[in-house]
Order: sequence, then C-alpha cells, then structure tokens
Amino acid sequence: MSQNFVPVNEPLLNGNEEKYLIECIRTGWISSDGPFVSRFEELFSDRVERKYGIAVCNGSVAIDIAIAALEIGQDDEVIMPAHTIISCPAAVVRVGAIPVLVDCDIRTYNMNVADVEAKITNKTKAIMVVHIFGHPVDMEPIMAIAKKYGLKVIEDAAEMHGQNYKGKPCGSFGDVSTFSFYANKHITTGEGGMVVTDDPLLANKIRSLRNLCFKPEQRFVHDDLGWNFRMTNLQAAVGVAQLERLSDFVVQKRKMGRMYNELLKDVPGIQLPLEYTEYSENIYWVYPILIESSMNCDAKMIMSDLLLDGIGTRPFFWSISQQPVFNKMGMFLGETYPVSELIARNGFYIPSGMAISDDQIYRVANMVKKAILKYIN
Ligand SMILES: Cc1ncc(COP(=O)(O)O)c(C=O)c1O
Repeated sequence: MSQNFVPVNEPLLNGNEEKYLIECIRTGWISSDGPFVSRFEELFSDRVERKYGIAVCNGSVAIDIAIAALEIGQDDEVIMPAHTIISCPAAVVRVGAIPVLVDCDIRTYNMNVADVEAKITNKTKAIMVVHIFGHPVDMEPIMAIAKKYGLKVIEDAAEMHGQNYKGKPCGSFGDVSTFSFYANKHITTGEGGMVVTDDPLLANKIRSLRNLCFKPEQRFVHDDLGWNFRMTNLQAAVGVAQLERLSDFVVQKRKMGRMYNELLKDVPGIQLPLEYTEYSENIYWVYPILIESSMNCDAKMIMSDLLLDGIGTRPFFWSISQQPVFNKMGMFLGETYPVSELIARNGFYIPSGMAISDDQIYRVANMVKKAILKYIN
C-alpha cells in the first residue's frame, strides 16, 4: 500500500479547539457540567434557527431521544428512507414501532418524496426525513403531507451542517431535528450530537431523557426512565471552536466538490453528484460516486483497487430492506426498494474530509480514473 495513504476523512482542528480544550483542563470542567455545553447548544441552535438545542453524545442517540420524546411506541409506524444509516430504523424498532420504507431517488440519493403519501396508514405516527450526502430532501411536500395527516416530522440532519433548503437551515423543519458531530461531519466534536426543537415542553423532556430523568425536586428519584446521553464540556469546547468556522468549512467543501466534478467529469461509466438541485447547492458532506449498471464491476471491486493505490473509500449505506438484522426479525421480506438496493452495491465515496488538500484531490481523481478505466473495454 502507498505510503501517502489518503484517508477517507480527516477533520480540521486548527482553530480555537486547542485553546478551548486547555481552558476546560485548567478550569477542571471536563464532564457535562461546564460552560461550553450550554454555549455550544445556544450557538448551534441559533445557527439552525431553533429555540432549543440539547447536546448529546452522538447522532444515533439523538434519534433515540427524538423517538422517545415524541412518544412513538408499540406498533406505531414511522415512514423513512430505505437508504439511510441503521440508527434511523434501530431507534424505531427498539421501542416496538415499525419502520415503513420508501425508496430513494437515483440522482440525489434522498427519499422519494412522491412515494410517502401512499405509505400512510392509520398507524402512521411520523415521517423521518434523512438528508443524504449533501443535498436536502424536498421539504415542502413533506411538511404539507405531515400537516394534512397530523403526523410528526423527525428530521435527521446529521450530515447537513450549514446546508439550507430554499434558504432555510436544514434542521429547522422537524418537530424534532437531530445532528451528528462525528469526525467526518462538517463540524465535529469527536463523537457528539444535538437535538433541536422549538417546543419548550419537548425541549424539557429531551433534556430530562438525556440525563436519566432525574426528578428536579428530588435527585435520585425518577418518574421515568432516561439515559446518560450527555455531551462532555471537552467535546462541546471543540464544537464551539468548529462552529466558529462552519461557514468557511462549507465554502471549502464546495470548492472540493467542484474540483472533483471538474477532474472526473469525462470519466465514463460513473455518476457524479449533482452540484445543484432546484432548492439547494450541494455541500458535499461526502463525495459520492455511483458506478453505472452498464459497467461490469461494482463498488467493492473499485474500492479494493483504490485501496491498493492508497485511497480510502467507504460504501454507500446498505439498504435497510436488506439488513440481515431486520430480515432475521421477519421485516421487509418480499419487499423491494430497487434504487436503494442497487446503489448499496454500486455506490462508494472518496476522500472528502475537511482537511483534504488540493494535491490529495488530484491524486484521488487520477486513481479513480485509473480504477474505472480498467473496466472499460
Ligand atoms: C444520516 C445519519 N444519521 C445518523 C448518523 C449517526 O450519527 P453518529 O455517528 O454520531 O451516531 C449518521 C452518521 O454518520 C448519519 O449519517
């Protein structure tokens, strides 16, 4: 393997991260009681135009808390994309509710909004929207359907820091919206997440659920079961420093995306990400490539060739409909979601983290070209 390995992601931590972390250590505020946590919550919720932000320890538990706060439970149905991370259906299945899947669009990889209404039954409680890879879901029709049928909207904006839908921030649409700050996100806290809402009652409930549901008047007495999903002051310190640079990060990611678009535009047999939809400009959370069905190779083959050339990659999400864990539970058997199932096999993303250099982008693009051309007759 090449000595100059290009990892699929590398965060950029050269702002105030070190300074704020030192402040935590010098003051002793290292767990979740600490000034950076509330500062991060306030700054981040302002940024996404929400009244309340509740920091948690990752983007997966942010979804668990959203489901609990909305009191989704046994046999309730939640409509969601088949092309998403396991965290989305897992949170639903864990409370005895049922994920109802919709396929995704082959150009944006986002859920087919036009398919949502047909999936509504008298058990449907919520629509879980997941913005994928850098383009938002078309939110207007989703909000109209939710209003028409009295459904809750959970908006998983894990990958969407700094993105807008028709000028309004992603994360400002759901009854509850969630974010992740894992190291591959536009801004990171190492591990971390945030739940945002405008509803004061929901915000209180989420805060309580995050902190074991301690009774405010009598500590160590609990009327409900919660979790310890708290974010530490150390993580929030990094988050505040990262947030200071979010706008620059978005500019940088768009520059990276445009460079790849230009360098790869003449490579046959692959689909590159859209730069624009009618409602947004891509923020390139990652740079996804889809191998066209006419090619006699799949993502696995290209990814292993790239690895030999020192290029890190990741596959697309595996379709939820074909997750062994759910199929073993008897779920989604006999159902097909052709696009989600196809892109799971033919899609992968290339190095696209915040710290990627222009030189690395050129190298990755050359290697992608070489790997694909091997399969072109
Ligand atoms: C759409 C989406 N939702 C949720 C998550 C889970 O976030 P975390 O890794 O912080 O648990 C991710 C992680 O990448 C994601 O992409």
